[in-house]
Amino acid sequence: MMKAAASAPGKVILLGEHFVVSGYPALVTAIEPRAVVRVQRGEKKTVVKSGNVVGIWSEGGEQLYPPKNIKNHLQPLYDMATKLLEENSVHACFEAEIFSQIPGSAGLGSSAAVSVAFAKALSDLYGLGLGHDAVIKYAMLAEREFHGTPSGIDPHIAALGGALLYSGPGNYRRVNINNLLEIAVLNTGVRRKTSAMVAHVQEFARKNPEVFREMADFYGEVLAGGLEALEKGDAARLGRLMTLNHMLLRVLGVSSKAVEKAFEALMGLGMYGAKLTGAGGGGCVIAVGPQTSYGRLSDLSQQFQTAFTTKIACRGVVSEA
Ligand code: MEV
Repeated sequence: MMKAAASAPGKVILLGEHFVVSGYPALVTAIEPRAVVRVQRGEKKTVVKSGNVVGIWSEGGEQLYPPKNIKNHLQPLYDMATKLLEENSVHACFEAEIFSQIPGSAGLGSSAAVSVAFAKALSDLYGLGLGHDAVIKYAMLAEREFHGTPSGIDPHIAALGGALLYSGPGNYRRVNINNLLEIAVLNTGVRRKTSAMVAHVQEFARKNPEVFREMADFYGEVLAGGLEALEKGDAARLGRLMTLNHMLLRVLGVSSKAVEKAFEALMGLGMYGAKLTGAGGGGCVIAVGPQTSYGRLSDLSQQFQTAFTTKIACRGVVSEA
C-alpha cells in the first residue's frame, strides 16, 4: 500500500480516574469526536504534521526540524513509530498527518486516540496486520512519553471502543450499556498536564495511606452501584454516583475553580449528576440527565470553551479510506 489512514475515538471516564492509576477498576467509554491519522510512504526523511506543528527526521533518526535545541512535541509519536517499524522489520521513511477533532489536554484521551490511530495506520501501510493488543502496546510507549506513568486506560478504550471496566494493561472486561446513549461534555478550556495531576494524587496516597484506602473502598461501592445502574439503564442513579465520585476527586485535590463552575452550570440544567473526567485540574466535566437537560446545554457555550452532547460507546480504532 502507498497510503493508509485510521481513526480512533476519544473517551470519557464515567467513574474511577486516578483510582485506576493505583490499580482499582474504572469505568470508561469511547465517545464520538475522533482522531484521524493519514500516512504515506516517504523517501529519505520522515515527516509528521499536526496542524502547524511539524517534525522532520533523517533516515538515521536525527532531528532535522525543529532545530535540535527546540523541544519537538511530536517526538513521542516518532519514537513509537520507530519502535513499531523496527520490531516488525520495516526499514523505511514515511509521512504522517494528524487530524484530531478531540480537544487536547482536556481529559478526553486525545493523545491516546492519535497514538492508536497512528499505530494502526502504519500497520496498514506496511501490511503488518497488527491486532488490538499490539496497537495498544505501541500506543502505550507514546503515552508513557507524553504522560509519565499512565494506567493505560486511554489507549485501551481508543483501540477497543464501546465501554470497559478497566483495571490495568490487558486486564479489562466489556460492559454493556443499556439505554444511556448520550452524555453532556463541558470543556472548561483550562489545559493541564496529566502527569502533574497524577503525581499530586499519588503523593496524597503516599502521605495519607489509610485515608486513601478508605476512600478507595468507598469508591469501590460507588463503582459497583454505577455498573449496576449502567447495565440496567438507570441514568438517574448513575448520575448520582458520578456526583459522589466527583466529591471524592475534590478531596483528592484534583478539582479547581473552573471545574466547579462547570459542575454547577451542568447541575443548573437539571442534570442527574456530573463529575470531572480525566486528570482534572481543568479539562472537561461530564453529566448525564433527562432529555430536557441536554436541550439546554447550548446555553452554556458562551461561558465555556465547548459544550456538546455526544454519543457514547462508539467503535474503537478502524481503518479509514
Ligand atoms: C487518564 O485519562 C486519567 C488518569 O486516571 C490517568 C490514567 O489513568 O492514566 C488521571
